[in-house]
Amino acid sequence: MITGHVFIATSLDGYIARENGDLDWLLKYNDAGEDHGYNDFINRIDVIVMGRGTYESVRKMGEWFYTRPVLVLSAKLSAQTVPAELTGKVRFSDKSPRDAMAMLSSEGSRHVYVDGGQVIQSFLKCRMISDMVITTVPILLGAGRTLFGKGQRDLELVQKNTRSFPSGLVQSAYDIIR
Ligand SMILES: NC(=O)c1ccc[n+]([C@@H]2O[C@H](COP(=O)([O-])OP(=O)(O)OC[C@H]3O[C@@H](n4cnc5c(N)ncnc54)[C@H](OP(=O)(O)O)[C@@H]3O)[C@@H](O)[C@H]2O)c1
Repeated sequence: MITGHVFIATSLDGYIARENGDLDWLLKYNDAGEDHGYNDFINRIDVIVMGRGTYESVRKMGEWFYTRPVLVLSAKLSAQTVPAELTGKVRFSDKSPRDAMAMLSSEGSRHVYVDGGQVIQSFLKCRMISDMVITTVPILLGAGRTLFGKGQRDLELVQKNTRSFPSGLVQSAYDIIR
């Protein structure tokens, strides 16, 4: 069975990026010298699905640092050709979450990293996320791009564990009850 997994950081007030996409408030924790578990997480992942917002944000950073194939969900990009330097690493698709997961499953993928606020919200609505690791950054941004948005129906979670880091980050893992 194919399953979706979330590993994401959010401000204490629920934003994953500033309105303009900036991650300055988050990236400074890369220098904290702490292991927040990303490598362990990504080692269990076959493929990454992300929204156009996340793809465009990563492209602006310059370096392509993903070690897994990436499927970018986007109506806008699906008609475009993948940039030459990303050929074989990235695909564009306008599939729905359910159809995207069916395609990836037919290709042999089992564990999918789902990334980007709007895309995570869509996958949650389709009940295509099994678990989430959410790292909370001790900052209130006041505005920005939300992780969960509005209109989500009740979705019960089982808290698996929580750990805190000297930097002030607090990370909780949740399973989603189906
Ligand atoms: N804090 C963190 O750990 C973290 C992690 C990841 C990303 N981010 C940041 O979050 C921002 C991006 O998140 P976001 O919420 O703005 O955008 P997103 O979820 O990455 O992308 C949203 C876009 O994806 C496309 N899309 C295609 N299928 C979709 C579907 N089923 N549901 C929703 N969208 C779909 C739509 O573009 P089309 O109109 O082209 O279809 C939509 O506008 C960036 O700034 C990124 O740097 C932060």
